[in-house]
Amino acid sequence: MTINHHNNRAGDGGTVRLSWAHRLLLSFPPETAHSLAMIALRLAQTPATRGLLETRYRTDTGEQLLQRELLGQNFCNPIGLAAGFDKDGIVIPGMAALGFGWLEVGAVTPRPQRGNPRPRLFRHTAAASLENAMGFNNRGCHALRKRLERFYPAAVPLFLNLGKNHDTPNAEALEDYLLSIEVLDDHCDGFVLNVSSPNTPRLRDLQRVRAIRELVRGARAATDRPVLVKLSPDLDASEAREVANESVASGADGIVLANTSTDYRLFPGARKIGGLSGRVLRQRSMDLLEALAGDLFGHCLLVSVGGISSGEDVYARLRAGANLVQLYSALVFEGPGLVARIQEDLAGLLSRDGFESIDEVIGADLKTTNGRRRAT
Ligand code: FNR
Repeated sequence: MTINHHNNRAGDGGTVRLSWAHRLLLSFPPETAHSLAMIALRLAQTPATRGLLETRYRTDTGEQLLQRELLGQNFCNPIGLAAGFDKDGIVIPGMAALGFGWLEVGAVTPRPQRGNPRPRLFRHTAAASLENAMGFNNRGCHALRKRLERFYPAAVPLFLNLGKNHDTPNAEALEDYLLSIEVLDDHCDGFVLNVSSPNTPRLRDLQRVRAIRELVRGARAATDRPVLVKLSPDLDASEAREVANESVASGADGIVLANTSTDYRLFPGARKIGGLSGRVLRQRSMDLLEALAGDLFGHCLLVSVGGISSGEDVYARLRAGANLVQLYSALVFEGPGLVARIQEDLAGLLSRDGFESIDEVIGADLKTTNGRRRAT
């Protein structure tokens, strides 16, 4: 993929000027385009060629400003790859070379599964949004372990998104999560318990207080690695607060907010078969972050994801209390130069406003009567 990131601008109403390679990719059906992008990344991430990828796409602009220790790990910048892009850990070195400060691979389930029938991934280009009904297509935790034997430790912190197999009843879901943890525990830097994908029947029921308590306690007892919980944007603010508080009380180190949405009021043009992501999710994701940060900022890690596509977006999430952020959909529409562009813009915004480190920014919009709250 030879994409010049300096050409790309796709903010609200902005023009998107894409390279020929990116335009070609977008002329294919979405899942085919994704497979082609994965092939390109695989070819480009070999030890012999990775340097070229880094030279073209990585930037060290603002790296000192944006670098941060969290959960015992060094994050060179807060921008992470969200789950679902690299379900099987195929392009870990490639995505790190694009400048992501951390990666979330998966979702992985204990046994391999095909996912839902195609077509199951749609672009809503005018809205810079995606709709997917993938259904945890992945090669299973044992195959992932084999790949991680090659790729772990990675150049950046590596988290794994865990799901349950589609035919595992919820009463036995805990065993699925525990099996993946057992198999993968030595080959990652942390886990994300995914209880919020809309494409696995009844998975979201695990967001109930009793179920989440059992799940998080079980996972907590099974690993010393950080354990995060990923929630749905379709919870209302009080439900989200309740589940998040219960997760943290049960031993979770953080909350990832949020997964894709099946609230089709967000986008009238939706096909209504899968979860929406991208720009249509931006406001909902921000609102939920604000709702949770009031209770949880300073008590656990908050990861904001949903509709992030610019340095301004990341800056707003950090100020609202996110310790880290992630993105997926914007990468599809803007191409591989996106991360460097966000990093440069974010560093510019910090400097403009007189911040000397990212620690000062995180939670800057949250005030208590005692002054600034403590950052995690
Ligand atoms: C996802 N997402 C996702 N999330 C998750 O926890 N496990 C998964 O396996 C997947 N799979 C997946 C596939 C596809 C095709 C998409 C588009 C998304 C959700 C993703 O991680 C993220 O939470 C949302 O996409 C919102 O972020 P963006 O895309 O708006 O930046």
